[in-house]
Amino acid sequence: MIVAANIADFQGLADWLSATSLSVVLQTVTWAIPSLQSVHILALGALMGAAWLLGLRLVGMKVSALAPGPLASRLLPWIWTGLALLALSGGLLIVAEPGELLSNSVMQLKLLMLLVAIGATVAIARLVSVPDAAGARHTPQARPAVRALAVLSLALWVAIAFAGRLIAYV
Ligand code: HEM
Repeated sequence: MIVAANIADFQGLADWLSATSLSVVLQTVTWAIPSLQSVHILALGALMGAAWLLGLRLVGMKVSALAPGPLASRLLPWIWTGLALLALSGGLLIVAEPGELLSNSVMQLKLLMLLVAIGATVAIARLVSVPDAAGARHTPQARPAVRALAVLSLALWVAIAFAGRLIAYV
């Protein structure tokens, strides 16, 4: 039922998008799509590097001498910048090929997982420096809730990357 509803809705949006001059330019300029895919992969590298370093430190691995709070404030800007570049390059890839991508069930699942991963990252950013019961802000170990969120976000980033690669095969 969901698939039927989506295709109908997305088909209208896809037709509208593919008729826009931006979509026509992206479809006709030979280097446009490969350049967007390259930016997507580079941004993915920045996001994954920072997200994994932070996630592994939050679950207790000594990947950095910094405590979770200070490490988070160093790495979160890389995560948000990577996400912004992924959204821009990915969004333009959708504008270039809206028919194939908007009704692609793996693309839809990827965007759903992305919303949850962004939610988990916002929660981590909020919780990681909250003082503990003794008032200490930068404790050497993250609290259990932050560790659980870190495990969830690590798993989601990997699942999203797999989904991203799988899109072309579904
Ligand atoms: C932020 C919003 C995002 C949008 C709108 C988006 C959209 C897209 C689109 C349209 C494609 C091309 C699919 C194809 O034609 O085969 C793609 C590919 C891909 N995406 Fe994303 N994406 C986003 C975020 C991410 C994130 C966060 C990751 C990983 C954590 C990711 C990983 C990938 C991968 C691995 C590919 C395959 C690249 C290739 O082999 O060319 N994407 N994405």
